[in-house]
Amino acid sequence: MSAASTLTWSVSLMLGDARTDHTHEEFVDLINATTAAPPEQKLEVYRQLLKHTVEHFAMEERWMRACGIAEDFCHFGQHASVLQVMKEVEGRAFNGEPEYIGSMIEALVEWFPGHADTMDAGLVAYLQEKGFDTGSESFRAGAPVLAGADEPSCGHEPGQAC
Ligand SMILES: [Fe+2]
Ligand SMILES: [Fe+2]
Repeated sequence: MSAASTLTWSVSLMLGDARTDHTHEEFVDLINATTAAPPEQKLEVYRQLLKHTVEHFAMEERWMRACGIAEDFCHFGQHASVLQVMKEVEGRAFNGEPEYIGSMIEALVEWFPGHADTMDAGLVAYLQEKGFDTGSESFRAGAPVLAGADEPSCGHEPGQAC
C-alpha cells in the first residue's frame, strides 16, 4: 500500500482552541493543495505550505515563550526538525529535484495527526489551564504570572524519549 498524500480535516484533529484549529485546518488544506498541484506549480504551492508552517510553528512557540517554557522543551525541537527537512526539500526542488516534495508531503501526513494529538493538544490544555488567551496572546485577568515552573504534556511519559 502506498503512503497517503492527503489529510482529511475532521473533528478528530480539532483540539478545542479556535486559533490553533483554524491554523491546523489551513495546514491540512495546504498539504492537500500541494498534492493536487500540477508539476509546474508544485514548488510554488509547497512554498506556501512552508511559509504557513514557519508561521504556524512560530505562533505556538511564541505562546510557549510567553509562558516561560524552556527553550530545550521537546516541542521546540520537533518543530525545528520538521522545518529543517522542509527547507532542505525546497532547496532540492529548486535545484531540479521536485520528487522530494511528494515524499515530504507523505511524511507530513504521517507526522501531523500524532503531533497535534500529543504536543499541540498538551500545549492547548496547558494554555487553557494557565489562562492564556491565544486570540489576544495575553493572560486573562486574574491569571497567575508564570515563571516557567512547569511544562505542558508532550504526550510522552516522564523519562521516555520525545
Ligand atoms: Fe500545530
Ligand atoms: Fe506544534
